[in-house]
Amino acid sequence: MKAISLARNYIRLETSLYREAAEKSPRVAKRRFPTGRQRIWLRRTARLSKWLDESGVEVPAKIMSPYALGVLDRCRARIPLKYQYRALNGLRELARTHVLFPELLSDGEPVEIIDLSAGGCGTADVLGQYGHKVEICDYFDANKINPMGHSYAELHKFLGLNCRFFDGRSLPYEFADESRDIVLVYQAIDAYGPVAMWYDIVDELLRIARRSVGLVLNPAIPKTPENEAQVVAFIGDMKRDYGATVSTCPETSLPALRIDK
Ligand SMILES: C[S@@+](CC[C@H](N)C(=O)[O-])C[C@H]1O[C@@H](n2cnc3c(N)ncnc32)[C@H](O)[C@@H]1O
Repeated sequence: MKAISLARNYIRLETSLYREAAEKSPRVAKRRFPTGRQRIWLRRTARLSKWLDESGVEVPAKIMSPYALGVLDRCRARIPLKYQYRALNGLRELARTHVLFPELLSDGEPVEIIDLSAGGCGTADVLGQYGHKVEICDYFDANKINPMGHSYAELHKFLGLNCRFFDGRSLPYEFADESRDIVLVYQAIDAYGPVAMWYDIVDELLRIARRSVGLVLNPAIPKTPENEAQVVAFIGDMKRDYGATVSTCPETSLPALRIDK
């Protein structure tokens, strides 16, 4: 079935689940999932599925079904609304993979991937469907003092994933040399340190990778001309010094870099 048809069914289903939850708990609905905010993410889901159809990428039907987790439970678990939509989490990573590592979506050998700041875990959900082994890590409050630090824990449980604690701020990382085929850091390197530190971080990621490193960069924060210029210079340096290929994430329009060893 085409992705857009799967997405239409998915959106219908999620919409009815959120409508039922809003009837049960209008106050939670108003605060945590107002209709306008739901529409933003569902529209993005439809747009991505259309893009994948146009790009000739087949979408695994399995990721186009909601997490078997009640809407009010999703809110109670403090999963950000954006990450409550399994199809959006999966399609975002599928589109990024098509752009950065298209070979992972063909019938090649399974590879070992580590996603160091996995967030909603779309990479593991999607790439697992292609037989790849995906390890997930993230920064969370291991002492459970800050409940936001566990905001993806219910998704890990649902997907049967074991998330390993990782703090990108403290170099060197604990992983052995060339111990994973591909190392991913999507929209998180800015949380590991300032741009000046990204060069050492990339060297560290390349030490761990046997084949490649994948990065998706967040916008510079705060959005000053100096910060933006630093990010542009970083991308230029990665191209010149490491032969990085630079593309654009189809969902977020953020810069996406692939660095091969
Ligand atoms: C914008 S989210 C991106 C999540 C996911 N990779 C994606 O692209 O959707 C940023 C991620 O960085 C993680 N993070 C924040 N501080 C971190 C740190 N010090 N070390 C590792 N990860 C961190 C967050 O927990 C979150 O998963």
